[in-house]
Amino acid sequence: MKKIIKNGTIATAADTYQADILIENEKIAMIGKDLPAEGAEIIDAKGAYIFPGGIDPHTHLDMPFGGTTTKDDYETGTIAAAYGGTTTIIDFCLTEKGVPLKKAIETWHEKANEKAAIDYGFHLMISEINDDVLAELPSIIDNEGISSFKVFMAYKNVFQADDATLYRTLLQAKELGALVMVHAENGDVIDYLTKQALAEGNTDPIYHALTRPPELEGEATGRAAKLTEMANGHLYVVHVTCEDAVEKITEARNKGVDIWGETCPQYLVLDQSYLEKPHFEGSKYVWSPPLRDKKNQEVLWNALKMGQLQTIGSDQCSFDFKGQKELGREDFTKIPNGGPTIEDRMSILFSEGVMKERITLNQFVDVTSTRAAKLFGLFPKKGTIAVGSDADIVIFDPKVERAISADTHHMAVDYNAFEGMEITGEPVSVLSRGQFVIKDKQFVGEAGKGQFLKRAKYNAALKPDTGKKLTV
Ligand code: URP
Ligand code: ZN
Ligand code: ZN
Repeated sequence: MKKIIKNGTIATAADTYQADILIENEKIAMIGKDLPAEGAEIIDAKGAYIFPGGIDPHTHLDMPFGGTTTKDDYETGTIAAAYGGTTTIIDFCLTEKGVPLKKAIETWHEKANEKAAIDYGFHLMISEINDDVLAELPSIIDNEGISSFKVFMAYKNVFQADDATLYRTLLQAKELGALVMVHAENGDVIDYLTKQALAEGNTDPIYHALTRPPELEGEATGRAAKLTEMANGHLYVVHVTCEDAVEKITEARNKGVDIWGETCPQYLVLDQSYLEKPHFEGSKYVWSPPLRDKKNQEVLWNALKMGQLQTIGSDQCSFDFKGQKELGREDFTKIPNGGPTIEDRMSILFSEGVMKERITLNQFVDVTSTRAAKLFGLFPKKGTIAVGSDADIVIFDPKVERAISADTHHMAVDYNAFEGMEITGEPVSVLSRGQFVIKDKQFVGEAGKGQFLKRAKYNAALKPDTGKKLTV
């Protein structure tokens, strides 16, 4: 059935204007004034903004990590994402040394199939480069539709790859048309500092932050940028937290290096002091890289505003306080790293960003949706409101005031890192390929309706000669 959204204010990364949107066969069929409504379901969006569905380029659902598995899986995680206005996620597919990459991808499909309520893609972790991996990579991009590879520079003896692996991944990705993503922290020095802290009897959560200082994020970011320059490659730095790293990205971009930066809501609104909360509550705020000194928040907001950072990922990686974060009561290195952020990513950016005039409305759309679509081979199918694009649409009430709380959130996890935070604005209804997934703040979608997205090669969608043509 056709649908028409009327009376709303459309905001894209470029424009803000009033028009009706006609939706037909999962796509946006027309945009205009007073479109003929005959035979269509009318959706009245008076007083609301109409955004393209959010794209969260950084999630970890149903992921084994830190001796346990994330609490939110593809079902709870994608439903919570939809409540928050996100209609596409790109999740990290972990790989194991010596195991074919194809096998890891199959495992990730099994996690998502029949569970995802919104569309999704995968990034692929690269932990080694050898003849087998080199032989598999072309098919990963061309047949599996996975055009971004992730290399960890930290988590020694778990995920960490060496610099030669990063460099060779950059060279291969450049050759094949993929974007390389890095977790940029100096894992070797962190390993030394954590062992030293434990030897001195320092076991509390705050030592997680003290043993991963911002200098080590800046150093690794600069190293990755330099290797990208040498390889003439393409780099995306995930979860940037601090001035040290922003400086390195800015320096490289100013030299013309193709490097992009993502930050996350938690680094924009929380700070290192949260790790000092009593009764082990500090463990709820253990992320890697860690929350930083408050002065970094304005640096990150300015970097988003001025374009030195370009995207917002949630880095959703949730663990219950009870039974999961508690694994590290006696030893901070055993606290599973990560937190629940998928649901509040867009609302926090709108409230703290747009409402507080740190970024514009159009920048908000760009950093929460459009830019990720462009970088990760999904544009213009996803990430904008245009004729021919998927009808992934958020109807957003910019006036409603509410407090974030675990009592009302939809993630499976037993706490909310932003508990009590007063924010303005909330999605009212959300459509995924023309179907309501959230209607009047209630989930009306279905687990398993989300489709796997085979993504275009890096940048290909932006080039008129090679980009995917829209079918209208
Ligand atoms: O603490 C975090 N960020 N957990 C998720 C894994 C990662 O490093 O992104
Ligand atoms: Zn990471
Ligand atoms: Zn992550």
